[in-house]
Amino acid sequence: KKDQLILGIETSCDETAVAIIKNGQEIAANVVASQIESHKRFGGVVPEIASRHHVEQITIVLEEALKQANVTMAEIDAIAVTEGPGLVGALLIGVNAAKALAFAHQKPLVPVHHIAGHIYANWLVTELQFPLLALVVSGGHTELVYMKEHGHFEVIGETRDDAAGEAYDKVARVLNMPYPGGPHIDRLAHEGSPTIDLPRAWLEDGSYDFSFSGLKSAVINTVHNAEQRGETIPPENLAASFQASVIDVLVKKTMDAVAEYRVKQVVVAGGVAANKGLRSALEEAFSGSEIDLVIPPLSLCTDNAAMIAAAGSVMFEKGIRAGMTLNANPGLDI
Ligand code: KG4
Ligand code: ZN
Repeated sequence: KKDQLILGIETSCDETAVAIIKNGQEIAANVVASQIESHKRFGGVVPEIASRHHVEQITIVLEEALKQANVTMAEIDAIAVTEGPGLVGALLIGVNAAKALAFAHQKPLVPVHHIAGHIYANWLVTELQFPLLALVVSGGHTELVYMKEHGHFEVIGETRDDAAGEAYDKVARVLNMPYPGGPHIDRLAHEGSPTIDLPRAWLEDGSYDFSFSGLKSAVINTVHNAEQRGETIPPENLAASFQASVIDVLVKKTMDAVAEYRVKQVVVAGGVAANKGLRSALEEAFSGSEIDLVIPPLSLCTDNAAMIAAAGSVMFEKGIRAGMTLNANPGLDI
């Protein structure tokens, strides 16, 4: 049987990415142009700037991916693209590039949900074992997703306010750290101890939803109250306390869902999966258990197009197609 080659395009936020995946799981090319440097001085992603960078980068990144995989467009079986959710102006660049390529080369166009992509980053690492539970923790999302088979997604819990990564970035800002703040807080947390009592939002009994805005406000208030008293709280202890609170909730809710849904595998996805504290807390929670825990390498946790092409491969096999009317959908449900 001929190898299947899927070209994936991802432009939902601040990375312009194109990848080519062979037979769903093998990375033939994975190119990511990050815009972090351009957004840093604004302390966050500026949508207008993101769109402009995508326009400038998309063709260059595409050419680079084809070169890396050493293939031509003629050899590609389908084009998968992130349809949503994300920044509308950013998504539009990828969607239009995908449509133009599909039209010019007469290739099938496969729409992909960004979170499905994040989850499928794990398929690039290992076989998926169903039923599985995915803990998706990124700058824009915090979700627990149950999957009973390939291409089936059931959101069993999600954040009611801030995403975990968003809380990290906002707390980092209060502590005068650069954007994105997650890695800085993570590093600082390991130098301190969780000496400050911060809230944990468990929500109603049995709920797998999350809430991080109360925690974020508690950190901000703690800093401001200390300032008013003319004191300073050691930032490493504040970081450690904040991180402990986030991890406690993420790990406990994951474990509860694992028990209720009797899954075989837990996969972790999104930028916050890079967090050292979270990784070791999950590893400890699952050590000696029969449940397989998968955490992708850092480069596949943050936004990339390899994950979009991998998910696209499954959608392609399922017969999912989009026409030339495909539009960006910033609020798309999985
Ligand atoms: O998945 P991602 O690249 O983009 C979105 O789809 O949102 O995630 C980016 C988020 C940022 O909020 C960043 O601060 C966070 O992931 N992040 C981390 C770490 N590395 C990245 N958060 C906590 N600890 C880290 N080590
Ligand atoms: Zn993402």
